[in-house]
Parts: sequence; C-alpha cells; structure tokens
Amino acid sequence: MTEDVFRLSSRFAQMKSSPVRDILAVLGRGDIISFAGGIPDPTLFELADFRESFAYTLENYGPRALQYASTIGEPELREQAAKRMSRHLPTEPNQVQVTSGSQEGLYLVATTLVDPGDVILVERPTYLTAVQAFTLVGARMVGVDSDEFGMLPDALDDAIETHDPKLVYLIPTFQNPTGRTMSADRRAAIAEVLVRTGVPLLEDDPYGELRFEGESVPPIAAQPGMAERTVLLNSASKVMAPGVRVGWLRAEGQILRSLEIAKQGVGLQTAVTDQLAVAHYLATYDLDAHIAKVADVYRTRRDAMLAGLDARLPEGATATRPEGGMFVWVRIGGDVDSALILPKAVDLGVAFVPGWPFYADHPDRTTMRLSFVTNSPEMIDEGLSRLATAWGW
Ligand SMILES: Cc1ncc(COP(=O)(O)O)c(C=O)c1O
Repeated sequence: MTEDVFRLSSRFAQMKSSPVRDILAVLGRGDIISFAGGIPDPTLFELADFRESFAYTLENYGPRALQYASTIGEPELREQAAKRMSRHLPTEPNQVQVTSGSQEGLYLVATTLVDPGDVILVERPTYLTAVQAFTLVGARMVGVDSDEFGMLPDALDDAIETHDPKLVYLIPTFQNPTGRTMSADRRAAIAEVLVRTGVPLLEDDPYGELRFEGESVPPIAAQPGMAERTVLLNSASKVMAPGVRVGWLRAEGQILRSLEIAKQGVGLQTAVTDQLAVAHYLATYDLDAHIAKVADVYRTRRDAMLAGLDARLPEGATATRPEGGMFVWVRIGGDVDSALILPKAVDLGVAFVPGWPFYADHPDRTTMRLSFVTNSPEMIDEGLSRLATAWGW
C-alpha cells in the first residue's frame, strides 16, 4: 500500500541503485576476494595524523568547528586546495568551492546547468555514479568513442554537432573504470574542440595524483582557453581518506556563485570539523610522502594483477595497463555477458563489477572492472584463479 503514498518523480523513476554499492553490500562473506570496489586500502590510512588533526581542530577552533558555516567552505581548506591545484593551474582560494566529495561536485554541476532532456557527452565507458548523478537531474547521456588515449576529438566534434550538449564530462587521468590516461596531445586536441565549439567541460580528477610511474599530465583545464570553461573536481578520497567526504572544485566567474547557491539547497555546507581537520592535515603533514608510500604498494598489486591476467586471459581478451589509479579494465570479447558470470564468481569467492553499468548507451557486456588496490599480490593471484574458473578460461 505504501508504494502508492509516495509518487516518485519521473526523473527518479529512471534511477537504478549503483551496482557497485549493491555488490559491496553482499560482500560481507569473509571468504570473498573482492576486485569490485574502488576502495583505498584502509591499512594505509594515516590514522595517527588524522587523530592529531581532528584533536587540533577541536582544541584550536573550539565551537567554530561545531557551528554552521559558509557554504563555499572554510578559508583554511580553500587556501590549501588552491595551493595544491596551483601545481598545475594557477588557482586562487576564491576560485575554490568545497564539496562533500567530488560526487557532490558532479551533482552540483549537473543540477546547475542541466534541464531535463539536455545532453551530457560522456566517455564510453564512464564512471557509473556520475551517470547516476546526471540521471537525477534528468540529463540524457550520450557516450562518445574513445581509444587508449581517451576520447576521440573527431567523435567529440561530431557528437557536439549532432547533440548540442550542455556539458562534456571527462575523467582524463587513470579513468574509472578503464584506468586509461589521456595523453597530452589528446588533451590539447580535445581542448581545441571545446574552445572552438564553446561547450563547457566537467573535468573529474580524483585519481591524478595516484601515479605509480610515468610523467604526470596537467589537467585539460590547464590547456589554453580552458580554465574559464572548465569545472575541475578534486577529492581527498583516493589520496587521503574517503570517509571524511571532502573534495573541492575549481571554477571561474558566475558559475561559482551558481554552484554555491545549488550547494545551499543540497546540504548547506560540508562538515566544518572535516574541512578544518583536512586543512590542518594538508598544512602540517607531507601528503606527497603518503601518496608515494601508497603508490609503492599499489604498483606491486597492479603488477600482480597484470601478471595474473596475462597468464590466464583467453586468446583475444584485452586488459588495460594503467600507470596509476585503481582499476584494470578487461574486455573478454565474444558474446558472454560478464553480469551472468558474476553470481558464479561470487559462489567461487571472487567479485568484480560487470562492465555494462559504465556505459551511458550501447554497453559492451563482455567487459568488467577489476580493482587491484585492496588485496595483497597473493590474494590477487588466488582471486584471479577463482575468476578463471568462473569464466571457464
Ligand atoms: C571518477 C570518480 N569521480 C568521483 C568519485 C566520487 O568520489 P568522492 O565523492 O569520494 O570524492 C569517484 C569515486 O569512486 C570516481 O571514481
């Protein structure tokens, strides 16, 4: 009966629960080796530094840390965020809006710019919870073809011509789900298309600092003419800790004020205690040293996953070889739907995320996303053995 009391909005009727969160929810079974979540290894969190940062926050700021505060964010955090972003792109604290994770940034941008039915161009495949956030505002997502270097500029040009999009959404570095990084040349070519056509960019960069090898590539926002037409999202989640729910975005001009007003309506502000503690952590501790430590561990795990896949994948299957981040993207090819393999895999004690939910349209169902960050090399090898049995390789 209660179903009839609440009449869901037509936008919400399109919503599906995140398959990743659903898979994570059934992974309580201790014997399952999970390649499913993009979850930082909790044993690497800097617990003592965070304990001190929260204690400092309460002792030093007192009631301010527990009070309502500005929507745009605490000055201490905006200053630290601007400093970090300025490594690639000169950024003033007044160009920074604090968010409750970059996930909130995705929603704020979409709700500020998109009317129901408007098109957002996304990569094929793209981050599935961005698809969820965009669906909440009634956006129509259109996937644009990519190769190993990222979205194809000609395909983007054509899609802009055909669909008149409000926005292009890209994750250029260590993309979720593929682990791919867009080359510097490709960034320049994509920027050229966007500047010429006047379409704004939502650039999502939670993984960029998590590099294990190779040269770092500045964000597309740093390309000529792009800073003023890009909302660039960063997050503490993948490099510090996702539980603090702290991220920040960089933007210029009027859009900043609109995003701030949207955030007022969504959540008033990000938790002041968390903002001040993260600001203190950034000002006091060596985040680069922490990232280097994490990268050392993740590199070994990535190598274990790639070696294990090389030894087991059937003829014709492919796996990406990321230089950082958290994910390897596997394409088996043929006509087997990875979602149909998942229950058998879970029975055998291994989990992954099927590829289909990462597509805005026309999913390649023979794909799957494997995260290499949470398990030891030995567990990764055992998990891949189970996976091979489930697939019958
Ligand atoms: C590409 C991408 N964007 C945004 C997020 C959201 O991260 P958070 O809200 O924790 O910053 C994630 C998390 O997995 C992600 O992979």
